[in-house]
Amino acid sequence: MSRHTYVAAVISALTYHVSFAVAAELDGEIAFNNHCRKCHTFKKNDHRIGPSLHAIVGKKAEEAQGFGGYSGTLHGITWSEEMLDKFIADPTSVSSSTNMIYPPVKDPAERKAIIEFLRKSGTQ
Ligand code: HEC
Repeated sequence: MSRHTYVAAVISALTYHVSFAVAAELDGEIAFNNHCRKCHTFKKNDHRIGPSLHAIVGKKAEEAQGFGGYSGTLHGITWSEEMLDKFIADPTSVSSSTNMIYPPVKDPAERKAIIEFLRKSGTQ
């Protein structure tokens, strides 16, 4: 491989990597906006139809202070990434009488991007 070809290959590998990372991040935000934002924010104590998702990953369910819309049926759950995945794939698979009624996110890659976004944005 000539030096020129080698440099070009490295640049193209780097460009691919960077654009892929940016795309993955954008997907999570767009997916969150499409599926969750009408009912949830990340701001502490800023509740809408659903409770604030501030620092939700790893937190116990039903602990958002001042949110009055809990069904009371999620008690005892910890929001691990696996549990979040199950919940947004189909909330009724976690609790048949949950108050979170919305069209499930069927695409596993989209759920993964949303959970990654929750993990990153959840503490802001
Ligand atoms: C139509 C409104 C609505 C939409 C859309 C919605 N949610 Fe919810 N969400 C709720 C409500 C209401 C609750 C309370 C559920 C209960 O107590 O049974 C809730 C609860 C939750 C909880 C549990 C919070 C806690 O404090 O225990 C998580 C996590 C959650 N939603 C994540 C999401 C994610 C991620 C999305 C998008 C993929 C989403 N929600 C879309 C209304 C919504």
